[in-house]
Amino acid sequence: TGMFTYDPGFTSTASCESQITYIDGDEGILLYRGYPIEQLAEHGDFLETCYLLLEGELPTAAQKADFDYRVTRHTMVHEQMARFFQGFRRDAHPMAVMVGSIGAMSAFYHDSTDISDPQQRMIASMRMIAKMPTLAAMAFKYTIGQPFVFPLNSLDYTSNFLRMCFAVPAEEYKVNPVLSRALDRIFILHADHEQNASTSTVRLAGSSGANPFACIAAGAACLWGPAHGGANEAALKMLEEIGSVENIPKYIAKAKDKNDPFRLMGFGHRVYKNYDPRAKIMQKTTHEVLNELGIKDDPLLDVAIELERIALSDPYFIEKKLYPNIDFYSGITLKAMGFPTSMFTALFALARTVGWIAQWKEMIEDPSQRIGRPRQLYTGAGQREYTPIGRR
Ligand code: CMC
Repeated sequence: TGMFTYDPGFTSTASCESQITYIDGDEGILLYRGYPIEQLAEHGDFLETCYLLLEGELPTAAQKADFDYRVTRHTMVHEQMARFFQGFRRDAHPMAVMVGSIGAMSAFYHDSTDISDPQQRMIASMRMIAKMPTLAAMAFKYTIGQPFVFPLNSLDYTSNFLRMCFAVPAEEYKVNPVLSRALDRIFILHADHEQNASTSTVRLAGSSGANPFACIAAGAACLWGPAHGGANEAALKMLEEIGSVENIPKYIAKAKDKNDPFRLMGFGHRVYKNYDPRAKIMQKTTHEVLNELGIKDDPLLDVAIELERIALSDPYFIEKKLYPNIDFYSGITLKAMGFPTSMFTALFALARTVGWIAQWKEMIEDPSQRIGRPRQLYTGAGQREYTPIGRR
């Protein structure tokens, strides 16, 4: 059995070379193509980040205008998709609807199957970035029983998404620029995170040459789990369950108890052994959004701040280097914006789509690329004789 290195959870195996995202987990540093996440979130917008992740460089003003225009032209989905949605139970989880509808897109764009053509790869990338907000908004509208809202391409990417989610057609809807900016920043924070579970899933699926839409559906399926993108939903549910500051010690004790499966959701990270730099920006954004909406006292925010304070002074969390991650504060912000908890992971998927595609493209374009095929350490039965059913 000494033939292969056994590395469950891939804690010490690099599966690829990549030039896209750099993380220094001990220092709490995150760079997209060399640029610190703090600077991109402060000065840029999400589509600029998309361009950067895909192309490797920040766009010039002309390149940016062209990219924005091209993404905008692809926001519509085929009208048949609207009927496809009707097949889901109306109380379906939005992530179930996302996984299914992203996968279904592979049936609409046969030209995208030609992944050997760089032009087609770029068009497929544009389509996915452009259509993901439309699909996420449709998933939202469908599960609350409202009619779909058509994309309005004169709006910027994130304002258009907010409008598709919250404009009830009969009403005049005005996008709040502060909220739109805040959500855009949340998208930047989620855009890529190197070889996390969902991205590795996309790469592995793509390594067989599969349709790129189908690969992204695989990534979304992986993201859904509570240890990964599902943590934002789980973190908010946890804060609601804790309910008030007095109950925190009980939950801290549960999280530390090895016989109790409960974990502090939104805490800890495989790579960050320091404060998640995204969580810091997220916390600031939470305050901005609550201020803008005139929410003076959010009991969930009080619980979150106190929970963080207590955990960060507790030896258990200090020794294990467990800090809040991106999912700890995002839920409070998204809830204040009007998104139900069940939509949180769908928003994560929307934003991570660019990372998935950039990584997929990088893999396809890498000359050393081969089908991903891990080996195993076999621990099952040795060879034995078949017993007919009557003699078992
Ligand atoms: N609460 C309590 N204890 C924890 C927690 C937590 N949230 N996270 C880790 N630990 C303990 C764990 O019990 C283990 O203790 P011991 O060494 O005594 O057995 C130790 O810390 C190391 O944990 P691990 O599970 O071996 O670490 P991992 O790298 O395999 O898991 C993680 C990383 C993020 C899955 C985990 O920290 C976790 O489950 N956190 C809660 C879920 C969460 O917030 N996920 C979002 C991650 S960031 C965004 C994203 O990826 O989508």
